[in-house]
Amino acid sequence: MEWTKGMLQELVGLKLSDLPLVVVSNREPYVHTYIGDEVHCQVPVSGLTMAVDPVMRACGGTWVAHGSGSADIDVCDDGGRVMVPPQDPRYTLRRVWLSREEQEGYYLGFSNEGMWPLCHMVFNRPTFDTSHWNMYKKVNQRFAEVVLEEVGDSSAFVFIQDYHFALLPRLLKAQNPRIITAQFWHIPWPNPEVFGVCPWQEEVLEGLLGNDLLGFHIRSHCDNFMGTVDKALECRIDYENSAISRNNKMTLVRPFPISVDFDQISQEAESEELQQEIERIRRYWGLTDEIVGLGIDRVDYTKGIPERLRGLDRFLTKHARYRGRLVFFQIGEPSRIRIRRYRDLNYEVEDLIEEINWKFGNRDWRPIIRLREHNSPFTLAAFRRLAHFCIVSSLHDGMNLVAKEFVASRADREGVLILSRFTGASRELTDALLVNPYSTDEMADAIKRAIDMPRNERVRRMTRMREVVADNGIYRWAGDIISTLTGIEPEEV
Ligand code: F6P
Repeated sequence: MEWTKGMLQELVGLKLSDLPLVVVSNREPYVHTYIGDEVHCQVPVSGLTMAVDPVMRACGGTWVAHGSGSADIDVCDDGGRVMVPPQDPRYTLRRVWLSREEQEGYYLGFSNEGMWPLCHMVFNRPTFDTSHWNMYKKVNQRFAEVVLEEVGDSSAFVFIQDYHFALLPRLLKAQNPRIITAQFWHIPWPNPEVFGVCPWQEEVLEGLLGNDLLGFHIRSHCDNFMGTVDKALECRIDYENSAISRNNKMTLVRPFPISVDFDQISQEAESEELQQEIERIRRYWGLTDEIVGLGIDRVDYTKGIPERLRGLDRFLTKHARYRGRLVFFQIGEPSRIRIRRYRDLNYEVEDLIEEINWKFGNRDWRPIIRLREHNSPFTLAAFRRLAHFCIVSSLHDGMNLVAKEFVASRADREGVLILSRFTGASRELTDALLVNPYSTDEMADAIKRAIDMPRNERVRRMTRMREVVADNGIYRWAGDIISTLTGIEPEEV
């Protein structure tokens, strides 16, 4: 059964009508920025916000997030609230202001130098610093206060996003036990031995067990989480029902593979406006009959961007006849650049592109074009629709929504997806060309296979992948979480 926006709205009306909905995430879904004297509203590069925004548009409610844009404060009321999306206001964005020190300790520090590398296991050592941890605790407390301001003493459904807020559910419940909390962990969860190196693992786990429901993308992340709790804390684990009980509090642990708004993306891909955008891109880059390859990622060391570039290098080395015929667009903004590892990665990517373009390019052609500025979701959709193939080469990824967006954009049933086996998405999109991004030859061979693939095979594979994404879109993700939660009653006080 395909879940639609209307069905989700119906479910929310039926089951959550008396329960205000509050979403909490670090990243905000809309960022107001000054460009000169003008305020522009941008959609950030974030799978999380892209996925949850349609749910909030459908259900309404309040989204609490860090206000990070230069003009954010100027468009809000005194309480830090603004209605979004700007062109069609549907829900309230409640912004939380964080000082530079708070951002450094909580976001860059514990979240992105500690938890991020810890959970992704891509040979980048996590760093744990007591001052970061203290700031993380302080900011979690701050968000708890803001949510409680929104909710008061009443019952509410608070839907927490990601690894920035491991302590938040327990803090909320301590103040208002009538709140129901669900948390979705958007990144992988490693095995107990790996997670055990976190000096504050007990506190992190205790915090998460404040939730009524804790979601991961796939079953093995749930199993890893339960194994970690089993090793670290005194508790009762019911593996059969995937539930953990500690101090008379039960937390359900379930997989909910996140997705995209398939219908919206697919319909947009067929629109006249998108065709015009494709034509604009073609004209701008002087594209005629080239084979177009595509990579779209935040520049992050988990995304396997150097591995992908080495694969392209090997492909052009092995198959000289494609020189001059292939143009690969590597699109993505630098991210988290205050962290050294991210700055280094940017240089590495620049260097590799420079080297490949120098090695194979000529006056009229360069094989790789890097676009590092912000591109609107609409322009990205046009790139997805015009590419012959798209490479997602993450070294480890909870899900990866670029892969699903690519499939949703291919209303023409064309295009080949080359997809890392180490993404959650590879469990569902088995008709992609699945690769091990650590193997340069495998990457090169997959590129060759994608380019040479006969049309009927391309269409067959893409049709099947589209069925999978259509049947498991973002409304099913939200609907499944809410249906699981509705068995949970707010505690009577
Ligand atoms: O993958 C985890 C995640 O939080 C996503 O959900 C999001 O797309 C991405 O990281 C963005 O990170 P940031 O908000 O730090 O730029």
